[in-house]
Amino acid sequence: MPDKKLILNYLQKHLSAGRLKHILGVTETAINLAIKYGADPEKAELAGLLHDCAKEWKKEALLKEAQAHNLIWHEIDVLNPHLLHARIGALIATEEFGIKDTEILNAITQHTLGKPDMSLLEKILFVADIIEPNRLPAWSEPVKTALEKNGLNSAIIVSIQATLQAIINKKALIHPLTITTYNFYLNL
Ligand SMILES: [Fe+2]
Ligand SMILES: [Fe+2]
Repeated sequence: MPDKKLILNYLQKHLSAGRLKHILGVTETAINLAIKYGADPEKAELAGLLHDCAKEWKKEALLKEAQAHNLIWHEIDVLNPHLLHARIGALIATEEFGIKDTEILNAITQHTLGKPDMSLLEKILFVADIIEPNRLPAWSEPVKTALEKNGLNSAIIVSIQATLQAIINKKALIHPLTITTYNFYLNL
């Protein structure tokens, strides 16, 4: 396992203080969810720490790096390269920190769009990203309530509902994988 101090130094160097706070909130939340639901807390910690490590990259850089590594899945990735921060984050996890564990890498890769039939660690990171303590309560509380009442799958549905609502309000493009993920969990 990589040295966590090295990861923290990297995050401090490449991200704003606010982003770092979010990352630490997600990490703590992911560890707690891992303990609660029976996932590996060590993997949850690494996935949490690295999930947004590429979040402040410029659009052009994200696009260039994704093209170089064949990480474009859909034309919307090109139109909204910000979505690529998850895939590039997984790339950094491997290239900078030698993480080869596919569970951790997949959780980082899927944390923005989700995917049907996610692994436990993928679900935990997806939900932790929304309910970490620094999120606005209007955003996180409905997801927390769904989690407490009905578990991770229900929390995923409520997260995507909030995300879709926000995307619609912004008149932004909706990635088809968000819809595919939503339909999958709604139909379970
Ligand atoms: Fe993210
Ligand atoms: Fe995040």
